[in-house]
Amino acid sequence: MKILLLGSGAREHALARALAADPTTTELVVAPGNPGTATIATNLKADASDPAEVLSLATEMEADLVVVGPEAPLVAGVADSLRDAGFPVFGPGAEAARLEGSKAFAKEVMEAAGVPTAAAAVCATEDELASALDRFGAPYVVKEDGLAAGKGVVVTSDRDAALEHGRACLAKEGGRVVIEDFLDGPEVSLFCVCDGATVRPLAPAQDFKRLGDGDAGPNTGGMGAYTPLTWAPDGLTEEVVRDVAQPVVDEMARRGTPFSGLLYCGLALTSKGTRVVEFNVRFGDPETQAVLARLTSSLPELLLAAATGRLDEVPAPTWADQAAVDVVLAAPGYPGTVTTGGVITGVEEAEQVEGVHVLHAGTGLDDDGRLIATGGRVLSVVALGDSVRAARERAYEGLSRIHLEGSQHRTDIALGR
Ligand code: GLY
Repeated sequence: MKILLLGSGAREHALARALAADPTTTELVVAPGNPGTATIATNLKADASDPAEVLSLATEMEADLVVVGPEAPLVAGVADSLRDAGFPVFGPGAEAARLEGSKAFAKEVMEAAGVPTAAAAVCATEDELASALDRFGAPYVVKEDGLAAGKGVVVTSDRDAALEHGRACLAKEGGRVVIEDFLDGPEVSLFCVCDGATVRPLAPAQDFKRLGDGDAGPNTGGMGAYTPLTWAPDGLTEEVVRDVAQPVVDEMARRGTPFSGLLYCGLALTSKGTRVVEFNVRFGDPETQAVLARLTSSLPELLLAAATGRLDEVPAPTWADQAAVDVVLAAPGYPGTVTTGGVITGVEEAEQVEGVHVLHAGTGLDDDGRLIATGGRVLSVVALGDSVRAARERAYEGLSRIHLEGSQHRTDIALGR
């Protein structure tokens, strides 16, 4: 099978690794990819969000499957133009991608499908924003309506900070902001592979969104993750498929905009029961790095079945009886203004730790061929172990061998889990 994978982060490196490892994969092209994917696939420069450019790449390589990693190409309609041209695509069309692209749309679908979520108000003016903040009260949950690369959500007890973030969202063209009830309880990410009708869950994971230890500091795209969740209630996955993913997939089909691809259910296990915090329409980062490390069945077979509406014909995914932990190494300044260009050393040494592999994200090569940081989220250090504790020890041992001047990472990923 010839596969075209779109994207350039550690999530895509994890996907590329699982796709390349399968004997059914005869050719793997990643566009644009990163120095990590270049070691296991062919990287091709391309704008992954440009439907015409992606279509021409898929046509040239006669792709049997196109896997779309990030959300931006999906919201831009890349999957639609590929599907219209007859290519099997793993990823929803633009209309279904609005489940991530618009928080307000996701709320509307959840209401129609009877899916449990936080009460919310959609605000288009500062007056509406101020009155919604007073109505909902602290802690304030303020979400930008559109895509924001993990930085659109502010949760704070400071009304001025909530108002400031809300105003910044409204100031954008067509800006709207969603104010929600705060959901207590631990968060869980459950990825569901969907083909427009059938839902196949992957292993639940948990990510750590704040920059600092103890969940301090600003929200980020995610600083680490682990799986399995040994503390999660029995039957959680079945409950989420039954009460969340399947109703949403059915509702999208009813609307004539079927959801085919990865429905990322971001959940809070609250004192009142499981509630949806958000949907994303692609694999999560950094959870994917941990989840796929444990996958023992064929990823290409699963994604192709989803892309061709045959998910009910393939067996459920299977998992290693091991835990996986990944820790993100971020550049100085992340998630604010990032300092790039720093030289990275020690990746090979990290991979000498048993059970450890390192996935690239914001990395590049300088003129002398040295590995350098080119973005905020630089590397994910992933480890497998016989328990979450063993995996975390290995991940941190690996991380300790990597050097990037001024880099940041959390020291408490999966601690005590
Ligand atoms: N882990 C958060 C995200 O992928 O959006």
